[in-house]
Amino acid sequence: MKVCHQIVEIKEIISRDKRQGFSIGFVPTMGYLHEGHLSLVRESLQTTAKTVVSIFVNPTQFGPQEDYQDYPRDLSRDTARLEEMGVDYVFAPSPNEMYPPGFKTYVEVTQLQDKLCGRSRPGHFRGVCTIVLKLFNIIQPDWAFFGQKDAQQAIIIQKMIKDLNLETKIKVLPIVRDQDGLALSSRNTYLSPEQRQAALVLYQSLQLAQLLFEEGERRTSTIKQAMINRIQQEPLAKIDYVEIVEMENLDEISLITDKALVALAVFIGRVRLIDNVILAEKGKKE
Ligand code: PAF
Repeated sequence: MKVCHQIVEIKEIISRDKRQGFSIGFVPTMGYLHEGHLSLVRESLQTTAKTVVSIFVNPTQFGPQEDYQDYPRDLSRDTARLEEMGVDYVFAPSPNEMYPPGFKTYVEVTQLQDKLCGRSRPGHFRGVCTIVLKLFNIIQPDWAFFGQKDAQQAIIIQKMIKDLNLETKIKVLPIVRDQDGLALSSRNTYLSPEQRQAALVLYQSLQLAQLLFEEGERRTSTIKQAMINRIQQEPLAKIDYVEIVEMENLDEISLITDKALVALAVFIGRVRLIDNVILAEKGKKE
């Protein structure tokens, strides 16, 4: 496995591979890899001839009060794990390599970027879209792999691909959870044992939404209120948002007719966690 830190280096390798007719799969990450990332890597290894994983904690997607400095990093553990799995290339640039002095160009997917997480993280999706487009331009992947855990991110990236006529195709893979239901996230490492226990309330409230839906409830106000009541029983939890939205434009809906995204962000202490589930009439999940 080759680890590249320079854009010219990875570009040269990829263009050689492309000339030889190899298909390229790409998994963008911010490192500190967990099973959720590794499920994307496995899918890429099965889908394309070559797999590139990027490891880059992207400063432009963090707000000034957010955890950019503290975000967990362990490049040598990550690269060892990826090498074991049979990944071909890791691209791990420095912030200066991706954003040299004088950098001025940003990509925005308007409206979608301001909903759900965008409300409490202004500028976040602008940072995500900018780095993802830069990485797509550098790596030119045939396929790129994203996790459903970041549902809004996946929807926004798909919109960017469509609007900007990019060639890359996207696969969005299911959320990977610990045995007790907590969605895997690099930020789970911030949780104390007591907070980790409290964090289970996210999944429990989503399961409650699923149960109500299966019992025939279609009014989103009823489902949302039940979720909010459940979360408020947990003293360490503070709700950022609980929303039930239409899957394409992320608009709130009052009645679920076909399928809907139930998404939430909850603070457990100072740690902001997100999770979601798709509610769909039978046969409508895809
Ligand atoms: O999902 C993430 O880890 C990041 O938002 C991404 C897509 C790697 C861009 O920095």
